[in-house]
Amino acid sequence: MPISPSDFEYIREFAREEAAIVLEPGKEYLVQTRLEPIVKEEGYDSIASYLSKMRSERGFSSMHSKVIDALTTNETLFFRDFHPFETLKSEILPEIIKRRSQEKKFAIWSAASSTGQEAYSIAMLILENFPQVANWEVEIVGTDLCSKAVNKAQEGLYSQLEVNRGLPLPLLAKYFKQEEKQWRIKEDLKRMVSFRQMNLIQNWGSLPTFDIVLIRNVMIYFEVEVKRRILGEIRKVLHPEGYLFLGASETTMNIDSDWQPVSVGQSVLYQSKLLADQNPTDLMRN
Ligand SMILES: C[S@@+](CC[C@H](N)C(=O)[O-])C[C@H]1O[C@@H](n2cnc3c(N)ncnc32)[C@H](O)[C@@H]1O
Repeated sequence: MPISPSDFEYIREFAREEAAIVLEPGKEYLVQTRLEPIVKEEGYDSIASYLSKMRSERGFSSMHSKVIDALTTNETLFFRDFHPFETLKSEILPEIIKRRSQEKKFAIWSAASSTGQEAYSIAMLILENFPQVANWEVEIVGTDLCSKAVNKAQEGLYSQLEVNRGLPLPLLAKYFKQEEKQWRIKEDLKRMVSFRQMNLIQNWGSLPTFDIVLIRNVMIYFEVEVKRRILGEIRKVLHPEGYLFLGASETTMNIDSDWQPVSVGQSVLYQSKLLADQNPTDLMRN
């Protein structure tokens, strides 16, 4: 049975409030197809009865969490878009490694990491190309709202189809071990990356200062005000000379003028403009 207008309105409001996900009128069918599997899994006879129980729950229950998981789009792949990784390898990581040669540590945030392919791609890229940081403290943090995606990223277990998407064969052979029809990330790679659940529109809790932040293909779902707020918050956790990567179709332009686009190779990255106005040493946080 199609989702009723009032149930759709409830879900629309819920998705906007809880995850900043915008569901325009006309997305009723999408919502319905996303909710049907959980309704079935949880033994309810209709979306209406699931939502009626969910509405009566106190606070944010596991029913709410399942709906959020179902509404997020977790599309991702290894080395997505290729160029950002080329730029990391040829320009950005060499610069950061040089800058951090005294402390021997740096940190990278894959925000909205989905099932972890972006974070693991960066870890592979570092192991393959920068043997000099083998004994450094390299922290790669992946965060995502969707608990199912975070669990999968933590587990580091991928299907044949998933490893076929973007992962060069030599890297598959070197960093994964086969488990029946699936592929598990080996320990030395896994050790470099940690994942946790985090909602970008709620309090971020404690985060280290990052040298690089990648927040790709998630803000496309958000309203301008939310994007502006998130971009402002990122400046607080990004090293003043650090770099921000957005998705191929995303930009800070006309949203937040305190970011400076920088063309590097075939990529456009962003740096905080506040750096140009202030003495960088005043801004250093570690
Ligand atoms: C399309 S995927 C992009 C994954 C990866 N960044 C990439 O570019 O391949 C979008 C991810 O954003 C996450 N997401 C959506 N809303 C979010 C929010 N409010 N806070 C954190 N993550 C969110 C989804 O769960 C999903 O995994």
